[in-house]
Amino acid sequence: MQKWCLDEKGQPKIDKGAENLCMDESEICFIDGFHSKLYYRGYSIEELASNSTFEETTYLLWYGKLPTRSELNSFTEDLRRNRDIPQGAYDLIKSIPRDTHPMEALRTVASYLGNVDPEKGKLGVDSMPAKALRLTAKLPTVVAALARTRDGKEPIKPRSDLSHAANFLYMMSGKVPDNFWERAMDVSLVLYAEHEMNASSFATVVVGSTLSDYYSSIVGGIGALRGPLHGGANEEAMKQFFEIGSPENVDAWYKEYALSGKKRVMGAGHRVYKTYDPRAKVFREYSKKSVEVSKDPKIASIYGVAERLENLVMSQLCESRGICTNVDYWSGIVYYAMGIPIEQYTPIFAIARIAGWSAHLMEYVARNRILRPRLYYKGMLDLEYVPIEKRG
Ligand code: CMC
Repeated sequence: MQKWCLDEKGQPKIDKGAENLCMDESEICFIDGFHSKLYYRGYSIEELASNSTFEETTYLLWYGKLPTRSELNSFTEDLRRNRDIPQGAYDLIKSIPRDTHPMEALRTVASYLGNVDPEKGKLGVDSMPAKALRLTAKLPTVVAALARTRDGKEPIKPRSDLSHAANFLYMMSGKVPDNFWERAMDVSLVLYAEHEMNASSFATVVVGSTLSDYYSSIVGGIGALRGPLHGGANEEAMKQFFEIGSPENVDAWYKEYALSGKKRVMGAGHRVYKTYDPRAKVFREYSKKSVEVSKDPKIASIYGVAERLENLVMSQLCESRGICTNVDYWSGIVYYAMGIPIEQYTPIFAIARIAGWSAHLMEYVARNRILRPRLYYKGMLDLEYVPIEKRG
């Protein structure tokens, strides 16, 4: 019985968390979690973070090669043309209660955009690249409009003469960022753009594997990303630094909570990385530069907390148990230095990760098989139905 869940000795063989499930072949992303390596389509994350932009990286992820200049120009132009959202979406944004978490609001508006997409109702892989382009272009506009409306401000319409990163910062604050902050945002989008079969990409692909529509799949991804064990960790990491308050409190906090197991260090630990997450290294450098550029003592103090806590995590949890700081540990400090409210950090992750979700969706559905795992049943069988009046 249930041979699909038993090992050769007849014992239940359960892969809790699907840790060892290798569900398909892929050419999109490779992670070597024991040697701090991450590649998108064969290019190391360090190469891309130093040289590429979000627009180019998205093209690379979707089409499997770096674009020529004319391919990049036309892809960038298409993204810029598709930035604005219909009036119905602005109206919907205004109607969402202000105390709604931005990720939950983003899920709602992304779903609505599917209802007004010119190719709505079309299923399958053929319409995906065009839909992916439209939603990737619009997501920053939605996040910025939600953020401003939440603060009681009017949304700012997108501009078509700015990069994806600069336009997002402009729509958030009304100011065109200088080169440093534009590049910091752009690099953060590159770092967050893709990460193999993480929980939100899996959720996206599970929905897509039923041959459902593109928007339903992405809404599944947004829902999965919201949780504190996944994308929500960048927000939680910042709250943790504020809870600790100042560098002098770090050691006591670490002893009281992290060592005792009362709390997890948010922004630490990873299913795949058992050593330093290479994305955290790049974000760490940008956090440090953000302190220098902003010259704000509050940011310097939060950076001091993060630095001291990281020293403890890396010399203890990382060395002994492979629980090391990850991408979500440092990203918040960069966004905080940009003046972005903490609850917007996971939506920024979504603005970037839509590139990876879409790449996996297109790759998987092109050679589709519905995702449908099994469970080992350990409940009862053949019970006699007792009418409700006799149940006591
Ligand atoms: N702090 C302290 N202990 C930890 C942590 C942490 N951050 N992460 C894992 N552990 C311990 C955990 O308590 C458990 O201990 P024990 O075996 O004694 O019960 C052991 O390590 C294994 O934990 P797990 O939950 O089985 O590990 P996992 O591979 O299922 O979970 C994780 C990975 C990312 C969910 C987890 O490390 C975690 O909760 N980290 C904090 C949240 C976080 O930073 N998430 C962001 C992940 S990276 C980017 C992204 O996906 O968004």
